[in-house]
Amino acid sequence: AAALPAGYIARSLRPSDYDTGFLDCLRVLTTVGDVSKADFDAQFKWMSAQDKTYFVLVIEDTAIGKVVATGNLIVERKFIHELGKVGHIEDIAVAKDQQGKKLGLRLIQALDFIAEKQDCYKTILDCSEANEGFYLKCGFKRAGLEMAHYY
Ligand code: ACO
Repeated sequence: AAALPAGYIARSLRPSDYDTGFLDCLRVLTTVGDVSKADFDAQFKWMSAQDKTYFVLVIEDTAIGKVVATGNLIVERKFIHELGKVGHIEDIAVAKDQQGKKLGLRLIQALDFIAEKQDCYKTILDCSEANEGFYLKCGFKRAGLEMAHYY
């Protein structure tokens, strides 16, 4: 995969990202709500304790020390396919003023790379029709139909 633009790095989420714009970055995607530092830390700790399951990546603009893009890979273990694993890509968000610089593409490539290394036999995601073109450019293809039951 090609590199990020100069001055940007991709890395795992850290607890200190509570103060680097990580949650604001997610606000381009959906409602985040008020999350306290303590609750953020507890969630981070719980996810980290699930061995090789939650991979939360961020892209940081090192010049300003801000998170400008983020995305998750969740590795699901199965009984089918000889105890196979499926990767789920979730919560991809690129800050509004940083879109169109291939940060989204690089994030997906990085998450895909992790999924393959974790021996997933496929990676799936849900997206809107409006984002289909982006995921096609990332090498995904339309498969199936999402159903949801909200509580
Ligand atoms: N439709 C068609 N093509 C697109 C779209 C789109 N909506 N968005 C980007 N592309 C194309 C780009 O033009 C580019 O094409 P090129 O290689 O020919 O130049 C290629 O896809 C890669 O684009 P990036 O620059 O990497 O895209 P960006 O960094 O802006 O990230 C993203 C795209 C993630 C959709 C971003 O716009 C965003 O955060 N949007 C708001 C939140 C959102 O919708 N997130 C995805 C939710 S789905 C999920 O989380 C599983």
